Amino acid sequence: MEHVQFGRTGLKVSRLCLGTMTFGYQTDENTSNEVMDAAAEAGITFFDTADVYPLGAPVNDFGRTEELIGNWMRGKRDSFIIASKCFFPTGPMPWDGGNSRQNIMRAVEASLRRLQTDHIDLYQVHAWDPSTPIDETLRAMDDLVKSGKVRYIGCSNTLAYQLARAIGRSELLGLSRFESVQPRYNLLFRENERELFPLCSEDDIAVIPYNPLAGGLLTGKHRSGEPTEGTRFTLGWAAGPYQERYWQEAMFRTVDEFQQIAEDVGVPMTTLAIRWVLANPVITSPIVGASRPDQLAASVAALDEPLDPDVKQRLDDLTHEYRFGDHDR
Ligand SMILES: NC(=O)c1ccc[n+]([C@@H]2O[C@H](COP(=O)([O-])OP(=O)(O)OC[C@H]3O[C@@H](n4cnc5c(N)ncnc54)[C@H](OP(=O)(O)O)[C@@H]3O)[C@@H](O)[C@H]2O)c1
Repeated sequence: MEHVQFGRTGLKVSRLCLGTMTFGYQTDENTSNEVMDAAAEAGITFFDTADVYPLGAPVNDFGRTEELIGNWMRGKRDSFIIASKCFFPTGPMPWDGGNSRQNIMRAVEASLRRLQTDHIDLYQVHAWDPSTPIDETLRAMDDLVKSGKVRYIGCSNTLAYQLARAIGRSELLGLSRFESVQPRYNLLFRENERELFPLCSEDDIAVIPYNPLAGGLLTGKHRSGEPTEGTRFTLGWAAGPYQERYWQEAMFRTVDEFQQIAEDVGVPMTTLAIRWVLANPVITSPIVGASRPDQLAASVAALDEPLDPDVKQRLDDLTHEYRFGDHDR
């Protein structure tokens, strides 16, 4: 597996990152281990998680995903780059969430314990916290870097102006800066091409997008109507938000046309969808998800060859409307 530079840092990460948010709820420990085995076998050395995973699970299960990763990584920690996150509430108290110094310090210790490691390679704020001054967040994260508990810091789900402001504050205050951003990005959600991505390319910020398959919609296995049981679109509390994001008639129509293009060029839809994400030069490492080990092969196959420029143009044209805000769900 090719490894690429992580933004402006000296770190190298695999060209695909493994998403883990299905581990511990949608997928049991055995299946999760098989997915991690399959990823490692394919050469993926970069894993993304969060303190609040698994997705869709009852609140008391938060942290289970990190525990499973910690168990699986025992004895092989140094062969992997681990990214985790904090922000969403993981406890009953009003300060058990957000990007305050209090929550960041509490959350990182809990993640380190569950992951059974003394450091996290990339620690990200999962979302912007309007109730905490950005300087407080950056100072807390900088302290984590200085203490060695965290190697690099990043953010997720930020608007371009928020990230630009955070970078500016880090520079002014002489603090570690967000070296990466984790935005949503796929053929059906392209808004970040307009403002966030140009900023990332200008400031050499690594981009590790999530939902590259739109939670499975772009694999072509779903048909409009009732969502398929056992998939993302019926997964506990996540079913509603994911249906709202992608279970849209207009998107099903786009997926039908996407299927036609995939058939024309003889590439499986899953492979083509990931290849299209990889074809954007701003993208460092898409975070691919799987609920079964055999699902990963089609995503990994995206690396076999680059996207033909004519096919890219057809896909860009097909999904042009998703660059604009109407689909901000
Ligand atoms: N920062 C954030 O706010 C945020 C948000 C979301 C995700 N993430 C991160 O990004 C990672 C990836 O996100 P994602 O899981 O939504 O990515 P995705 O690649 O868009 O969706 C993955 C899902 O698609 C289906 N799938 C994948 N390959 C398939 C195949 N070959 N055939 C049929 N179905 C297939 C599976 O779902 P089913 O089996 O259920 O159909 C799988 O779990 C997460 O694990 C997490 O680490 C971050």
